[in-house]
Amino acid sequence: MSLRLFSRALPKSCPASPQRSIVGLRVRFNSSDAPVTPEKMPIPTRTRNLADFSMANRVCMVTGGARGLGLEFCKAFIQSGCTDLAILDLKEEEAAAAGEELIKQSCVDSTMEPTDYRVMGLGCDVSSELSVQQAFRKVMDTYGRIDSVVASAGIVENYSAFDYPFDRIKRLYDINVHGAFFTAREAARHMIPQGGGSIVLVASMSANIVNIPQPQTPYNAAKAAVKHMAASLAVEWAKKGVRVNCLSPGYMLTKLTRTILAHDPELKRTWESLTPMGRMGEPEDLAGAIVFLASDASRFMTGSEIRVDGGYCII
Ligand SMILES: NC(=O)c1ccc[n+]([C@@H]2O[C@H](COP(=O)([O-])OP(=O)(O)OC[C@H]3O[C@@H](n4cnc5c(N)ncnc54)[C@H](O)[C@@H]3O)[C@@H](O)[C@H]2O)c1
Repeated sequence: MSLRLFSRALPKSCPASPQRSIVGLRVRFNSSDAPVTPEKMPIPTRTRNLADFSMANRVCMVTGGARGLGLEFCKAFIQSGCTDLAILDLKEEEAAAAGEELIKQSCVDSTMEPTDYRVMGLGCDVSSELSVQQAFRKVMDTYGRIDSVVASAGIVENYSAFDYPFDRIKRLYDINVHGAFFTAREAARHMIPQGGGSIVLVASMSANIVNIPQPQTPYNAAKAAVKHMAASLAVEWAKKGVRVNCLSPGYMLTKLTRTILAHDPELKRTWESLTPMGRMGEPEDLAGAIVFLASDASRFMTGSEIRVDGGYCII
């Protein structure tokens, strides 16, 4: 890793600034050695980050990256030092606009200039294998390698089983299941010759539980398929340096869920009451988990699932 690049990627206010205090947790022990309540305290002086979490010098790609969780993953990569990023989404202009906005934001209060970034927006329909292959070809032509790929593109619909039109079920599987497969397979095809890489498939807590009260059987089954796909591909490619893990969010506030909640405002209260932490997740609640899975920090982890669901699945 180039130290110069990594330090340039840090915002001006970050490095070794004595004025900046970050709130952390400290556990104190009393004289009888019994643990007492954790208390919040400022972490003094220099803040150090584990280098394995750095995304500097890594070429990253995110499908469904123009908005929602995908856009949040892009943001997390940039904040962790990534400067080479491909954002794939159905509409190229939306992917490109998301990229421009990301660059603009990341240059605020930073030593970084827009020219330090190579962020590209690409139109790609993940349900088409050809479209995915073409997007990967453009990424390879531009960057020459691909290190971390996140398959986040996905849709959800709520029909009861008897009412769900077959063409819509098929479309859901084409995007959520086959789209993840095409993305992972194409990623591995390019990663294996270069010595490896990390692939993250975005599944859902619905891979593990049945959501209530809204019916969504094909979605739940599709996400269970994505979870097992990650495990199966992980075994196929484990000795070739390509890791495949999955990230399973709980209820997060994005356009996908806002569309559902717009038709049923009471539903938000129900979802929150079923979540031990008592709230829906904000997209940035996933930032740490995605950087962990996509970076060297998780280098001995493959075929695993990380659930980030406010505790939903444990009760
Ligand atoms: N939001 C949640 O509560 C939640 C919970 C668990 C899992 N997820 C999963 O996270 C992923 C992202 O969800 P989100 O909430 O950000 O949704 P979103 O609707 O906000 O964003 C999805 C993005 O994917 C893109 N997309 C859709 N079909 C595509 C296709 N065929 N090809 C390329 N791009 C396509 C959309 O244009 C959009 O930009 C999905 O796989 C979803 O199932 C979401």
